[in-house]
Amino acid sequence: MATTDADAYAGIARFYDRLLEPLNAPLRAVALTMHPPGSGMTVLDVGCGTGAHLEAYGEAGATCTGLDASPAMLEQARSRIADRAELVLGDATALPFDDGSFDLVFTSLFLHELEPDTRGRVLDEMVRVVDPEGRMLVIDYRDGSLRLKGRMWRAISTIAERVAGSDHYRNWRTYLRSGGIEAMVPAGAAVNKSKIVSGDNLMILLIDKTDV
Ligand SMILES: C[S@@+](CC[C@H](N)C(=O)[O-])C[C@H]1O[C@@H](n2cnc3c(N)ncnc32)[C@H](O)[C@@H]1O
Repeated sequence: MATTDADAYAGIARFYDRLLEPLNAPLRAVALTMHPPGSGMTVLDVGCGTGAHLEAYGEAGATCTGLDASPAMLEQARSRIADRAELVLGDATALPFDDGSFDLVFTSLFLHELEPDTRGRVLDEMVRVVDPEGRMLVIDYRDGSLRLKGRMWRAISTIAERVAGSDHYRNWRTYLRSGGIEAMVPAGAAVNKSKIVSGDNLMILLIDKTDV
């Protein structure tokens, strides 16, 4: 997706948090315990959406940057944290940041919606901009055998991904078929910690940069 494309989130941005924060907030809480943000830690959220995750990192003392391709989602993020974060309209396949700029590169519920060849480019960019001693934290779907809570999540996700449009839905299905988040660890990186959440439906990976 280039920033000149129609904004796929224009219609939903104003309602996004009302619909998804009840599901997102618990994920964020687990992620924060897996790699607690120290004061002064520099954090980039790739596909930051409405900025809810960045707000939590900012409250924990981190210096926050968010990048998203949707002007409508960024407008929501600005109304929430404009004074506490740098918010950038841009494309995650070409992050406008120097190599090794961030202590933590975070992304949540973003990779699954990308075209398969775009995913790899985004992951390579994430590895590039993380500090050699830094970490990546990725939250996304896994291809698990679902427990009850997971089945509920999967049903809600199926509706949401369908409503988001045929490309979005196709990419999500391809993502799951190709092994989900566990198949996404990029070259030059290795899993440090992982947690299965949402009844086997999602996973949180804490990833080290190894290729330094
Ligand atoms: C499902 S939302 C997730 C938002 C947020 N990370 C969350 O957890 O609630 C996916 C976000 O990725 C953004 N996005 C999609 N393609 C992008 C791209 N190529 N570069 C940057 N952001 C992109 C969308 O605009 C949207 O805000």
